[in-house]
Amino acid sequence: MLTLKVSAAAPQKQSVQLIFRPALETGNLEGAAKEVGDVRFFPSEQFVLVSLGASEKITAEIVRRAGAAAARWLKKNNIPDAGLDVDGLSAAGLPGLVAFEALVEGLLLGNYEFSQYKSQPASTDTRLTLVSNNPACKESLKKIEITCEAVNLARDWSHEPANVLNPLSLAERVKKLAAAEGLTCKILDDHELKALGAGAIVAVGQGSATPSRLIVLEYSGRGKAAHEKPVVLVGKSITFDTGGYSIKSVDGIVGMKYDKCGGMDVIAVLVAAARLKLDIPIVGIIAAAENMISALAYRPNDIIRTLSGKTVEVISTDAEGRLVLCDALTYAQQNFQPRALIDLATLTGGVVVALGSERAGLFSNNDPLANDLFQCGENTFERLWRLPLDDDYFDLIKGVDADMRNSAGVRKAHPIVASVFLKQFVSPEIPWAHLDIAGTADSDKEEPYSPKGATGFGIRLLLNYLCGLK
Ligand code: BES
Ligand code: ZN
Ligand code: ZN
Repeated sequence: MLTLKVSAAAPQKQSVQLIFRPALETGNLEGAAKEVGDVRFFPSEQFVLVSLGASEKITAEIVRRAGAAAARWLKKNNIPDAGLDVDGLSAAGLPGLVAFEALVEGLLLGNYEFSQYKSQPASTDTRLTLVSNNPACKESLKKIEITCEAVNLARDWSHEPANVLNPLSLAERVKKLAAAEGLTCKILDDHELKALGAGAIVAVGQGSATPSRLIVLEYSGRGKAAHEKPVVLVGKSITFDTGGYSIKSVDGIVGMKYDKCGGMDVIAVLVAAARLKLDIPIVGIIAAAENMISALAYRPNDIIRTLSGKTVEVISTDAEGRLVLCDALTYAQQNFQPRALIDLATLTGGVVVALGSERAGLFSNNDPLANDLFQCGENTFERLWRLPLDDDYFDLIKGVDADMRNSAGVRKAHPIVASVFLKQFVSPEIPWAHLDIAGTADSDKEEPYSPKGATGFGIRLLLNYLCGLK
């Protein structure tokens, strides 16, 4: 564990002192650490020099990456105590607390590891004293700690395998967490969902020994703003996606425990909102199901009646995300009056082809909302790219025996078609955005401040957006 504390005075007994500096071109010691995150240790002075790279290129993201490199170095070298002169960070030339906050994010996110199932004990604990005379740093540290704990919570839960986390055990976990965090939690089981008419989310989960659950979390907000309409967040949580009878390939199926990341992000945002005591009310809806094969599983050509009343013919049982989401989106609009409706989903392999793991797909029926989310993604370096949502694409999935089909059956414009499917379930007057995080929710390699696996992509972005609302 890495524990941070802000103090005006450097503690006596520290084993090392971290120093963050831009790289110098030539000459002295600092020139040795050139690339961002290069770490050089000077044992005689007990100095650890962490490079911020070229001084004219320093941004918050660079500081975040350097912070993560420092956290990894402390961990690797089993350092129990360290100090860091925060005021020296002003060399980064960033305004206000920007560098401080990015540094703390880098440290806390970069320190993350998922070691729950490892027999060897995790690395030793490190206490890091952030030495600063700025009284605002303490408050700021608290805020970033809450944010990063939320990201790391989502990473932890996303990493859980499907033999541990299924729609049932997830619902139980969320219920406990909600009680501890002061969130309202309502869970609809498959019987209740069937009785309501939510045939799509039920169908996706009907082949599993642990049927579907719709989990509804509510944060009430504070003060006057608490009476405003809520922002409603919807997350896809397929605890495992085999593809169903449209079964995935041997390679394609591995990693499909991460098909629940959208919902994990939503849970994390609600927890952080409560801890940060945000003013505005927020609702989180997690559509949980396991997409399995069995005698009870749904099949291609099944016709499903969704909660909206619209019918869908199943073409691919692997296009299950849009099915659980369409009922969750309808539920959101039937039970709340969203001022904005935002869903997060590892929805399509097509978005990975289009944008890779650098940016997530952004689709929206509302330009101001799309622009706000795009900007928040730039702020937190969880970057988005907007793709079209024209109604013409609906032709590809228009119904033959039902109102629509859940897949075009061809790979053309894949992520767009999925979004246009979702659009059929959102009333045009509600500002709605869909984030397709299939390429960014998990990574098959170590990232600058995220190890292999779940990244928690979108949580800082959404908190940045929510903190900006009145
Ligand atoms: N969970 C997958 C999408 C996915 C693919 C996420 C790769 C992460 C990495 C989704 O349910 C899916 O299988 N989508 C299909 C849809 C198709 C059958 C219309 C896809 O994208 O291939
Ligand atoms: Zn699928
Ligand atoms: Zn899926």
